[in-house]
Amino acid sequence: MSSHSSLNIEARDYSKEVINRISLGWSTESEVVNSGRITRLSFITDAPDFIEEMIPFSMFDEWGELENQEKNDLLSAGWIIYQSNTIFIETDLVTPACIEIIRSRQDNLVGPEMARSMAEAMTDEGYHTLLAILTCDAVRVNRKLSLFPKDFHLVKTMNNYISSLDSEWKRRVARIATACCTENHITDYLDLLAQASSIQPMFLTAVNAHAKDEWNHGSQFSVLARDIYWSLSGDGKKVFKDTVELVANNFFRADLEAWLAVFDQLDRKSLDKLRKKIKTNAIDLQKDVEFTNNNRGLMKLYENLDWDWTKYEQR
Ligand SMILES: [Fe+2]
Ligand SMILES: [Fe+2]
Repeated sequence: MSSHSSLNIEARDYSKEVINRISLGWSTESEVVNSGRITRLSFITDAPDFIEEMIPFSMFDEWGELENQEKNDLLSAGWIIYQSNTIFIETDLVTPACIEIIRSRQDNLVGPEMARSMAEAMTDEGYHTLLAILTCDAVRVNRKLSLFPKDFHLVKTMNNYISSLDSEWKRRVARIATACCTENHITDYLDLLAQASSIQPMFLTAVNAHAKDEWNHGSQFSVLARDIYWSLSGDGKKVFKDTVELVANNFFRADLEAWLAVFDQLDRKSLDKLRKKIKTNAIDLQKDVEFTNNNRGLMKLYENLDWDWTKYEQR
C-alpha cells in the first residue's frame, strides 16, 4: 500500500489549542444559533439586490444603455448567481472534505477536537447553504424572476481537476486542499459585498453573518492544511500546492456560463445586444475579470503553511 493511501493523521499535533478555542466559541457565537434574525427581515422592493461593480460586464456601453428596470433585474440575477455559486461551493467543494475528516475519526485518524470542530463547521456550512437558498428564493418570489443558473467557474474547474488526477490518494489530497483554500479565500469573496450598505438589507445581513462564521472557523482549515501538508511526501506536497494555487487563480473569475444561462432564462429582446457582446468577449472577460485583489484570507493560509507569499503575488 502506498504511503499516501492514508493521510496518517494520527501522528500529527492538531494544534489543539486553536481548534479548542474555535470550538469553545461555536455554541454561542455561530450564526446558526441566531438563525431567526435574517428571516424576520422583510424584503424591501426599492432596494437593489446586488451591486453594479460586481456585474462582470457593467463596463460595456450596452449595459449603460439599458433601462433601469432591466439593470435592476440583472442586479437581482447577480445576487442569484453569487449565492447559487455559494451553494455549489459549500455542497461540492467544502462539505465533502468535512465529511472525509469527520469519518476518519472512526479509524482514529483524527482526534476528538478536530472531529467535533469539523462537524460544527459543517453545521455552519449547512446554515450558509440555507441562507443562500432562502435569499435566492426571496428574489425569485418578490421580483418574479425564475432564474436557476447551475454552471459555476470555480466549482467546475476544481471538479475537472480533481477527477483528472490519476489516483485516489491524489484526489483525496486535492479535495482537502481545495476545501482548505476555499474556506480561507471565501472571506475575501464575502468581503466584496459585506460593505455594500445600499443593497437589500436582508441580503447584507446574510452576507455579514456568513462572513462572521467564516472568520471564526477559517483558522481550523489553516491548521488542518498545515498538519496535512507537512505530513505529505514530495509528490503529495506538489498536489496540495498545485491545488491551492488553482483555487486561488480561479476564485474571483466571472461566472459567464451562469450569466449566459440567466440571459436565456430571461429571454428578452431588450437584452440581446448585451448578451451578444458578452458571448463575443467571453474568453477575455473570463480571463480578465477578477473582482478583487483582496487576499487576506488566502494570506492567512500561506502563513500557516510557511509558504512564500511574495512568490504568489509575483505569479
Ligand atoms: Fe460557509
Ligand atoms: Fe466555512
